[in-house]
Amino acid sequence: MSNRELDKYEKIVELAKRRGFFWPSFEIYGGVAGFYDLGPLGTLLKNNIVQLWREYFVIRHMDMVVEIETPVITPKVVFEASGHLQHFTDPIVECLSCKRKYRADQLIEEALKIKVEGKSVEELTKLIRDNNIKCPICGGDLGDVRVFNLLFQTFIGPYTQNTAFLRPEAAQGMFTSFKRVHTVMREKLPLGIAQVGRVARNEISPRQGMVRLREFTIMEVEFFFDPEDPGEPPFSRFGGKLRILTADAKIRGEEKPDVFDVEEAVKEGVVKNAWLAYWMAVAKEFVKELGVPEDSMFFEEKLPHERAHYATQTFDQLVRISRWGWIEVSGHAYRGDYDLSGHMKYSGQDLTVFKKFDKPVIKKVEEIFVNKVIIGKLFRGKSGEVLKSLRKLSVDVVRRALAEGKSHIEVNGFRVPLSAVEVRVVEEKIAGKKFIPHVVEPSFGAERLVLVVLDHAYTEEEGRVVLKIPPKIAPIKLAVFPLVTKEPLISIAKEIFHNALVQGLTAVYDDSGSIGRRYARADEIGIPYAVTVDYQTLEDRTVTIRERDTRAQVRVGLDEVISKVKSLISLTK
Ligand code: GLY
Repeated sequence: MSNRELDKYEKIVELAKRRGFFWPSFEIYGGVAGFYDLGPLGTLLKNNIVQLWREYFVIRHMDMVVEIETPVITPKVVFEASGHLQHFTDPIVECLSCKRKYRADQLIEEALKIKVEGKSVEELTKLIRDNNIKCPICGGDLGDVRVFNLLFQTFIGPYTQNTAFLRPEAAQGMFTSFKRVHTVMREKLPLGIAQVGRVARNEISPRQGMVRLREFTIMEVEFFFDPEDPGEPPFSRFGGKLRILTADAKIRGEEKPDVFDVEEAVKEGVVKNAWLAYWMAVAKEFVKELGVPEDSMFFEEKLPHERAHYATQTFDQLVRISRWGWIEVSGHAYRGDYDLSGHMKYSGQDLTVFKKFDKPVIKKVEEIFVNKVIIGKLFRGKSGEVLKSLRKLSVDVVRRALAEGKSHIEVNGFRVPLSAVEVRVVEEKIAGKKFIPHVVEPSFGAERLVLVVLDHAYTEEEGRVVLKIPPKIAPIKLAVFPLVTKEPLISIAKEIFHNALVQGLTAVYDDSGSIGRRYARADEIGIPYAVTVDYQTLEDRTVTIRERDTRAQVRVGLDEVISKVKSLISLTK
C-alpha cells in the first residue's frame, strides 16, 4: 500500500477489522465478493440496530403490527407468483476473451458517464457496440447483453428436481402467510406483518463492500389495509417534515430535495398513500436515532423504470456516507394488491378478506319475477325446465323485450308470454364486502446500517479515534477500570463489571496499560461510559463515570453506578 493517508472509509474498514466489527468472509480462501462476517462488536451493533428497528416498527405499533418468521428456502412457485422469476434481474455482459462478467448498465455508465437505467438489453448492446466499449480489465471484446436472474437456486429434498430459491426479500413469507396471520389477529385491518431475516441476492459483481452484499439481513414490514377505507395513520406518533426529491423534480433536472410536511405531502398527492408516508416518517426518526442528522438523509422518489416490478410508487431513503456518497438504506414501496393477487392466481386460494359493514348496506336490485302458475298451466311437465331457463335470463333482456312491447320472449326454445314475467325492484341487505388488501412496505438492510452508523460515528480527536455511536446502540455500554492494578481496586472494579453484566449491560473490564490508553481503547470502539475505581472509592465508596463524547466525569456512589449508567443511556438519543 502507498504511504498516502487512508481516507475515512479505509480507516473505518481498518478499524472494523482490527477491533472486530466486520471483515470479508472466507478470508483464508481469498474472500468472496459480496460476503462479510460480522465480528464480536459488529454482531452486538447489528443486534442493537435490529432491536431499535423493532422498537420503532413493531413495539411502538403493537396495536397494528406483529412480527413473524418464515423460511429462507422457498419453493419455486412462490417466485413465479411474485414475479421474481421473471423480473428480478440485472443486465449482464461477458468478456469474450477473459470471461469476466459485468453489470452491463454499470459498465456502460462508467465508460460513457451517462445514465442507462431502464434501457433494454438490445439498447445496452447497441451502446456497447456504437461506443466500442471493451472489457475494462483485459481490453477484450464484450458479448451481447443478457438478463441475469439474481435468485440463488437450490433443491428441496435429496436427488430431486424440486427447485427452490433462497428468498431475496422476506416479504413473500408475509404474503404467503397473510391469511393465517390475519385470522390469528382476529381479522383486523390495517395489519402490519414484520419480519427480520436473512435474504440472498446473486449480485453480478458487487463492489461496494458492506453496501452491496449477496447475503444480508432484511427488516421489513408488509402493511395491509383496505384501499377504500385505509384508516388514519397516527401522525401524532410520527410525523413532521420529510425531505423528498420527487420524480417530477428529477425529471426537471433537480437534484436537491424539497421539504414537505408529511401530511401535506399526502394531501398534495406527492406521496400517493397516507400509510406509505407514515412509515417514511417512522423511518426518518429511526435513522436519526442511529446517529444520522436530518440534513444527511432524504427520500428519493423512483421513476417508473427505476421501480421494482411490484411497485406503483417507491421512495428510497438515502443517507450520505463517505466514499460511496448517497446510499439507499430503506425502500418504501406501494405494492398495491400485486403480491396477494399473484398468490391467489398461483395457489388457487382465496386471499381476499371479508369486511363486515357497521350497518348492513341496503341496496336496491332488480330481479326477474316469474308467475309460476301461468308457466305451470302453459308448459305442464316442461315447466321446471322453462323456469330454470328463465332464471338464467338477464334483467336487461327482459326489460328490452317489455320496452319493445313484445308479447313473448324466446328462452331456450320455449315461447314464454311476457305476461308471466316481470322485473321488480327489491331491497338486498349487504352485510360486508370482499376485497384484496393493499400493501405498503418499508424495507431496510441491517448490515448496511452497521456501516452507516460507523461512518456517522467516526471522529478523530487529537489524533485518536472516537466512535460517537449513540449510547443506545453502542455495542458495549460500559468499560470498568481500576485506576491502578492493585487490590482492593481490582476486586471492586470486577464486582462492578459483573453487576453490569447481570443487569443486562454489555461491559468490558480492562486493567492493562495507563488509564489514558484504556480510555482511548474504549473510545475507539464507541463505549459511551467508563467507570473508574480509584483511591477515593476506598474512602467514600464513590467511583467516577466518564462520558465518552464530552470526557466529563461525575462521581457517583458504588451502589448506584449501574442504575446511573442505565439512566444516562436511556436519556440520550
Ligand atoms: N422487499 C424489498 C426489496 O425487495 O428490496
